[in-house]
Amino acid sequence: MLVSPALVEKYNRPGPRYTSYPPAPHFRPGMAPETVAAMIRADNERPDPEPLSLYVHLPFCRTLCYYCGCHMIVTHRPEKIARYLDYLEREIALVSRWVAPDRPVVQLHWGGGTPTYLAPEQILALMDLLRRHFRFAPDAEIGIEADPRGLTRAHLEAARTAGFNRISFGVQDLDPTVQQAINRVQPYEQVARITRWARELGFESISYDLIYGLPHQHLTQFERTIRQVIDLGPDRISLFSYAHVPWKKKHQRLIREEWLPRPAEKLQLFLRAVELLTTEGGYRYIGMDHFARPEDPLSRALDEGTLQRNFQGYSTHGGTELYAFGISAISQLRDAYVQNVLTLPEYYAALDRGHLPVGKGYVLTDEDRLRRHVIMALMCHFRLDVPEVERRFGIDFHAHFADALAQLEEMEADGLVVRRPDVIEVTESGRFFIRNVAMAFDAYLQATTDRPMYSQTV
Ligand SMILES: C[S@@+](CC[C@H](N)C(=O)[O-])C[C@H]1O[C@@H](n2cnc3c(N)ncnc32)[C@H](O)[C@@H]1O
Ligand code: SF4
Repeated sequence: MLVSPALVEKYNRPGPRYTSYPPAPHFRPGMAPETVAAMIRADNERPDPEPLSLYVHLPFCRTLCYYCGCHMIVTHRPEKIARYLDYLEREIALVSRWVAPDRPVVQLHWGGGTPTYLAPEQILALMDLLRRHFRFAPDAEIGIEADPRGLTRAHLEAARTAGFNRISFGVQDLDPTVQQAINRVQPYEQVARITRWARELGFESISYDLIYGLPHQHLTQFERTIRQVIDLGPDRISLFSYAHVPWKKKHQRLIREEWLPRPAEKLQLFLRAVELLTTEGGYRYIGMDHFARPEDPLSRALDEGTLQRNFQGYSTHGGTELYAFGISAISQLRDAYVQNVLTLPEYYAALDRGHLPVGKGYVLTDEDRLRRHVIMALMCHFRLDVPEVERRFGIDFHAHFADALAQLEEMEADGLVVRRPDVIEVTESGRFFIRNVAMAFDAYLQATTDRPMYSQTV
């Protein structure tokens, strides 16, 4: 067993997922669209801008999953989706005219909501639009999130024709009782069929999202789900901890608290899933909630110390700027994070005025950059080269981070990290607590309240 239940109990507390640093709750309103436009232009006027990543948020879903924590909109009105696509086009056109013409896109991701709720011809048209406005590298990693329900072979064919080479399916749990309780019925056969189609059509990487901690999940049934998943053999698995935040997501009240596994049971679900995936399944544990087959590029990146982290979690691509389109989408510029407005009316109104639909933003300070570097190195490489940080940022590491290092003492005693003068190393079991290790270096953490800003660290 890689991870001890006592340690999980000890360290499991609310904490950021560090898809950005500072984390999104610290972004502030008031960043002017003109400022963002000027930053994008300036980034593209530099002699050798880094490659680009793109993200497109497609918020629409056919039905509501009661557990959902995503930024989504349930609709049955095709004209609503068509209107959104028209405005996406305006936003993409607005940004792309500032982008240096030979700047390659090495990564594109469509997330949601449910991108495959678009009709096949809409998938083709939107990709066509992106290709007209940006230059894609021939080996670009192009991924889409897909809901097995309502997914036809024509959708998958359209996605492949459009150039998608990675797909992630929302599987969550295969047990019928759990599926009923979360309002998301998708029989095993359906998941098996779409997985087979995706393989036949040549997607290079198939990923499943699973959630533990859902209503009515019990060990025996969850073991069955995990074994069924292992049989279906996706290349990657994200095993998310159910974030139950009914004060933020009102519809989660449709899930009665007494249906949820108690904390000790939830922990057991997680530990058993890890055990089955890494032994019977032969998956490697990457970090946080990610698992991958040993031959998957993510496993190779872990071995080679090239793993990266972005808003979708772990990735093999880094060192890019990220331009994100659609409501709630977050861009990562050289010097700032920028999050788009959250609602359709605000989004349409901004674009009608010819403005970028900026909601919140954050301009990084030098201290943020330093801490971001440290946190991302720990999150991705599970190792921090102290002299490298000192050279790059011109600091005395031990003096600058005296508080953080004191916090690591207990983690060291618990076998999660090893500290030597020149290096901090996260141990194999420490990878399960990587958010806790990173939190020691986070200058923005606030005292935990009973309505925490973040989900639990494990
Ligand atoms: C945008 S959805 C994936 C695509 C598609 N909408 C679907 O559900 O199949 C992103 C993933 O976030 C995860 N997720 C959503 N709400 C969550 C919550 N409250 N706690 C943990 N994971 C959650 C689910 O695993 C889901 O598949
Ligand atoms: S989990 Fe996916 S399909 Fe379900 S409501 Fe959320 S975004 Fe939509």
